[in-house]
Amino acid sequence: MATLLTNLQLQALFIAICLFSSSFCLQIGETCSKDRDCDAGLSCQTCAANGNTRPRCTRIQPTSPTSKVKGLPFNRYSWLTTHNSYARAGVRSDTGSLIVAPMNQNDTVANQLKNGVRGLMLDMYDFNNDVWLCHSNGGKCYSFTAFQPAINVLRDIKSFLDSNPSEIVTIFIEDYVESPSGLTKVFEAADLKKFWFPLAQMPKNGSDWPTVDDMVQNNQRLVVFTSKKAKEASEGIAYEWNYVVENQYGNGGMVPGSCPSRNESSPMDTMSKSLVLVNYFRDLPNASASCMDNSAPLLSVSKTCYEAAGKRWPNFIAVDYYEKSDGGGAPEAVDEASGHLICGCDRITYCKVNGGNVTFGSCDVPKLAPPPPAAATTTSSQPGSGNFASRGKSVQLLWLCGTILATTLSIQI
Ligand SMILES: *[C@@H]1O[C@H](CO)[C@@H](O)[C@H](O)[C@H]1NC(C)=O
Ligand SMILES: *[C@@H]1O[C@H](CO)[C@@H](O)[C@H](O)[C@H]1NC(C)=O
Ligand SMILES: *[C@@H]1O[C@H](CO)[C@@H](O)[C@H](O)[C@H]1NC(C)=O
Ligand SMILES: *[C@@H]1O[C@H](CO)[C@@H](O)[C@H](O)[C@H]1NC(C)=O
Ligand SMILES: *[C@@H]1O[C@H](CO)[C@@H](O)[C@H](O)[C@H]1NC(C)=O
Repeated sequence: MATLLTNLQLQALFIAICLFSSSFCLQIGETCSKDRDCDAGLSCQTCAANGNTRPRCTRIQPTSPTSKVKGLPFNRYSWLTTHNSYARAGVRSDTGSLIVAPMNQNDTVANQLKNGVRGLMLDMYDFNNDVWLCHSNGGKCYSFTAFQPAINVLRDIKSFLDSNPSEIVTIFIEDYVESPSGLTKVFEAADLKKFWFPLAQMPKNGSDWPTVDDMVQNNQRLVVFTSKKAKEASEGIAYEWNYVVENQYGNGGMVPGSCPSRNESSPMDTMSKSLVLVNYFRDLPNASASCMDNSAPLLSVSKTCYEAAGKRWPNFIAVDYYEKSDGGGAPEAVDEASGHLICGCDRITYCKVNGGNVTFGSCDVPKLAPPPPAAATTTSSQPGSGNFASRGKSVQLLWLCGTILATTLSIQI
C-alpha cells in the first residue's frame, strides 16, 4: 500500500511536470498565452495589423552583436536603435502635466538597454533651467510636451555602462539646447564623461572605427552625436552627419524600394562617412501598425538601404515600438545586418567562429530553419499550419509524458 501511494504521488508529480513544461519555453512563432510561456528574449503578442490574431512568441531582443567576435571595428556591427527612446506611451510628464505629444516606445530606456537596444535617439531641450527630454516642435519645450529631465535617463545609461563593462551605447541627440555648455553640464552631472568616446578618434575620411575590443579596454564606451554642427568645435560633441549617413525618417523613408537620404545627411553612398543609420518609422507613431512596419517591410528597406549606401549594411536600425513585430522584428533585422557586416552571412548566428576569429564568408547555416513566422498562417488555408512548430513540440511532449506515465505504471505493476 505504501509503495502504491508513493507511485501515485510520483505519477502526479510527473503529470504536473509535463503540464507545466508544455506551457513553458515556447519558441518564436509558437502559440502562447503570456510572455512567461515563451523562451527568453521573446514576448507573447499578436499582430492584428498583419491579420495575425493568434498570440505568438515574438522576438524582442537581438543576438548580442559582439557575441561572436569583439575584435572588429565598431562600424562592422549593427545596433538596435530606438526612435525617441524616452517617449514612453502612457506616462505623465515629470511636470505633473498630461503629455500631448506623440509617443514612440512602450518601455523605459533602462529596460530597452536590458533588451539589447544600443542606440538611443533623445530630443534635448532647455526647459525649467535644465535640459529635458521633450517631444515638441519649433524648438521650444512646454510642460505638456516635456517627458522628464535628461539627467534621469542619462543616469540609467551610466548605471548600465557601470554594470556591463563590455557594452557600448550610442546616443543621437536631436539638439535644441542653447544654454551655454548645456549638454556638457548634463553629461558631467550624470557622470558619463568617464565613458566618453573622444571626437579625435572618430574617423572623418571613411576609414574604420577603433575595434570594439579597444573601445572596451579604453573604457570609451559612450558614443554621442549631436544634430548641432557648432557643438563639435565648441563642446567637442560630434556633429552626427560628419560621421554618419542616414536615410529620410518618417513616411518619406517608408516608400518600398527607395532609400532617400535625410536632408541633413550626405547622400547614403558617401563612403567618407563610416557609419550607416536606417530609420524606419512613421511621421506619427502608430502602436498597432508598428508590428507590421517592424516585420517584412523593415527587412526589405534595410536591404534597399544597403544598396543605396554603396553596399553597406546599416550599423543602426531605428524603429518605433521596437518590441512589436509578427515574429523576428527589428531584432531580426539587426541580426541580419550584423551577420553581413561581421562575417558575410545572412544572420549573425550563422557566423563560424574559429579560435575567436571569424572568416568572412564562412557560414554555418542550420539545416532546420526556424519555424515560419506569423505570415505563414495568413497565406495558408490549412488550419493550424502556421502553428506547425507548436504542434510538433506538443506531440513530442505528449510522447514524453506518455513514456514517463508508462514507466511509472510498469514500476507499480
Ligand atoms: C504597452 O504595454 C502594456 C503592457 O504590456 C499594454 O497593456 C499596452 O497596451 C501597451 N501600449 C502600447 C501603446 O502598445
Ligand atoms: C584617414 O584618417 C586616418 C586618421 O583619422 C588616417 O590614419 C588615414 O591614413 C586616413 N586615410 C585616408 C585614405 O586618407
Ligand atoms: C532641408 O534643409 C534645408 C536647409 O538645411 C531647409 O531649408 C529645407 O527646408 C529642408 N527640407 C526639408 C524637406 O526638411
Ligand atoms: C494605425 O494602424 C492601424 C493598423 O494598421 C490602422 O487600422 C489605424 O487606422 C492606424 N491609425 C492611424 C491613426 O493611422
Ligand atoms: C585569430 O586572430 C589572431 C589575431 O589576428 C591570431 O593571432 C590568431 O592566430 C587567430 N586564430 C586562429 C585560430 O586563426
